[in-house]
Amino acid sequence: MPESVIVTSALPYANGEIHLGHIASTYLPADIFTRFSRLKGREAYHICASDDFGTPILIKAEKEGKKPEEYVAHWNRRDFEDFSALGISFDLFYRTSSPENVRFVQYVFEKLKRNGHIYEQDVVQFYCEYDDKFLPDRYVVGKCPFCGAENQYSDLCEKCGRVPDEILEPKCAICGRPPVKKKSTHYFFKLSNFSAKLKDWLVKNENLQPDVKNYVINWIDEGLQEWDITRDLSWGVPIPGTTGKAFYGWFDNHLCYISTMKKLIDEKGRDGKKFWNDSEIYHYIGKDIVYHHYLFLPAMRLGIDEEYKLPDYIPTRGHLMLQNQKISKSRNWYIGLRQFIEAFPPDYLRFYMASIVTYSQDDLNFDFDGFAERINNELIANVGNFVNRALSFTSKQFGGKVPAAGELDSDDKAAIEMIRASVRGVEELLSANQTDRALKKIMELSTHFNQYFQKKKPWSEKQMAGTTLYVSVNAARSLAILLEPFIPFSCEKIWAQLNLPGSVHGQSWDSAAELKVDAGHQLGAVEPIFRKIEAKEIEQQKTKLGVK
Ligand code: MF3
Ligand code: ZN
Repeated sequence: MPESVIVTSALPYANGEIHLGHIASTYLPADIFTRFSRLKGREAYHICASDDFGTPILIKAEKEGKKPEEYVAHWNRRDFEDFSALGISFDLFYRTSSPENVRFVQYVFEKLKRNGHIYEQDVVQFYCEYDDKFLPDRYVVGKCPFCGAENQYSDLCEKCGRVPDEILEPKCAICGRPPVKKKSTHYFFKLSNFSAKLKDWLVKNENLQPDVKNYVINWIDEGLQEWDITRDLSWGVPIPGTTGKAFYGWFDNHLCYISTMKKLIDEKGRDGKKFWNDSEIYHYIGKDIVYHHYLFLPAMRLGIDEEYKLPDYIPTRGHLMLQNQKISKSRNWYIGLRQFIEAFPPDYLRFYMASIVTYSQDDLNFDFDGFAERINNELIANVGNFVNRALSFTSKQFGGKVPAAGELDSDDKAAIEMIRASVRGVEELLSANQTDRALKKIMELSTHFNQYFQKKKPWSEKQMAGTTLYVSVNAARSLAILLEPFIPFSCEKIWAQLNLPGSVHGQSWDSAAELKVDAGHQLGAVEPIFRKIEAKEIEQQKTKLGVK
């Protein structure tokens, strides 16, 4: 296994706020894995960027009377703030419109062209003579030929979800006049050149999820379409040798994984390309962008002679539902990340999401009652209760000085052995991206220690109290390390109460299997780590959302 690991999370479009749906499928699982990798002592980086280019973004910027540069800069900043508030620990959050990415995209295009993977072809497109503009995708609105809904985009009917072949009564989205049809020369990427190689890669790569792999192989068997990578648009990476033409956003955005990572490493005075090729590579995504990540992305890397290697893993997860209904920004059925963590501690969201997110395409469901239950009955009643009891007993009965252990009985020995076994077990699950099962295993350890504490009764069995507390304080330390990838803010608090040196984020995972808190060590000030979620808070949230 390579010592270094590169983790990327799908790049959010720079045109709206991050919501809970984004977090569950992509950013949180990626962050948990990166934090775990860091604790394992690997050189691990989590990078991301705002996806700045494309028609929908340009249209929104124009609507707000802003320059597109200004508009995307706003969302880039805002997204990064929101992610940081949730503890998503990016090493670099960059942008697809960066000079590094623009240069890299143009370089890749030139090389693909030299290698014979690009051809030119005339396409007939809508054109507005009044605005003197070609009208790609969302610049044309009209009536959906399937369901008759008015005012739909030419590339997607939001009413029925279908993609119209030809929109009826087309109108220019800027001026409302009917457009004409006009010829334009476009570049195409010969995706079909790679059918055999892509299939071979999919079959051989055993890290990819089998169900996703199978339907992607099906697509290949049905025959791949050549890919139009040109837009007649000013807001995009300019296509070398043309005027007024830019690359389609999906041509340039995933290349930003590479250009961003390369920047990060190059700026350390090291060789970014070599680092890329020496590392284990993970691209975390939601299932809606499988086509792009399992076909376009690897094909383009193959097309430049694998100068940058293909991903080792593409962890792909399902969508989040909200109260059992599909999230939809246009119907206002979503919860913004910022709003949520203004109401609840960020770790509560992380804990709940991590406990429901499977490593599969299955959709998840965010449910307010389920959320409160998970936090109150598991995080607080299990972890919070044990850690607080272990530390406050030590504080009260031993003045905060960790007592020495006496002779260990079979319960003590079993408890210590359980710590060791849990560290190994959780490690295996996290390595296999089984985030929810890993968390469950940590909860079992915590449950065991609650029972151990209850059975040992250090408040009445004074003789055994020293041993019980010594083992328990050490268990609290192990739990803080094991839980760090999941609830980093709370683990910082536990670490401070334990009064141990350094930061919990910089500990060694393996050391969680050992009893490292010595007898005589002085604890810090002990206080409850969590606050309970009140029924009325949940009521308020539901009212806001408009549910009973
Ligand atoms: N912005 C795209 C989306 O939200 C995701 C881009 S991921 C990339 O669907 F890597 F390919 F850029
Ligand atoms: Zn017009």
